[in-house]
Amino acid sequence: MAPVTSDRMEVRSSDDVVRVRQQVRARALEVGLSLVDQTKIVTAASELARNMLDYGGGGVATIEVVSDGIRRGLRLVFDDQGPGIADIQLALKDGFTSGGGLGLGLGGAKRLCNEFSIDSKPGEGTRVTCARWK
Ligand SMILES: Nc1ncnc2c1ncn2[C@@H]1O[C@H](COP(=O)(O)OP(=O)(O)O)[C@@H](O)[C@H]1O
Ligand SMILES: [Mg+2]
Repeated sequence: MAPVTSDRMEVRSSDDVVRVRQQVRARALEVGLSLVDQTKIVTAASELARNMLDYGGGGVATIEVVSDGIRRGLRLVFDDQGPGIADIQLALKDGFTSGGGLGLGLGGAKRLCNEFSIDSKPGEGTRVTCARWK
């Protein structure tokens, strides 16, 4: 599915995480997501961008407006070339953290999206994709 628009944003600092949040909010508004759904996808974006920074050594966020011909939505892709996630099921468990966090980000983000996937190879990096449809 070819995106309608695509924003590519480097995430190297906390300020970049804020910029990703702002851009996701702007695109969610444009797509016509409800205020509740806007907040859901912005929260997911924030958690995933933060993980990319904290655990992936930074990376790239891609924010896409997508359409399946009937509905529009937002698809977010977070790509890093960090250490990867050895055990994805464990990483998704509420309360699991390897870094002294709350361990709620990944599982929370999954619940906040309509579509969610994690692709990760130890030593090569991680790609997390999340979509929210109108
Ligand atoms: N991009 C990533 N690269 C490597 N590991 C990750 C990445 N994102 C998440 N993880 C792993 O998944 C765990 C759970 O993430 P999360 O639920 O957001 O909790 P927290 O950020 O509080 O640790 C992290 O502690 C980390 O071990
Ligand atoms: Mg986290």
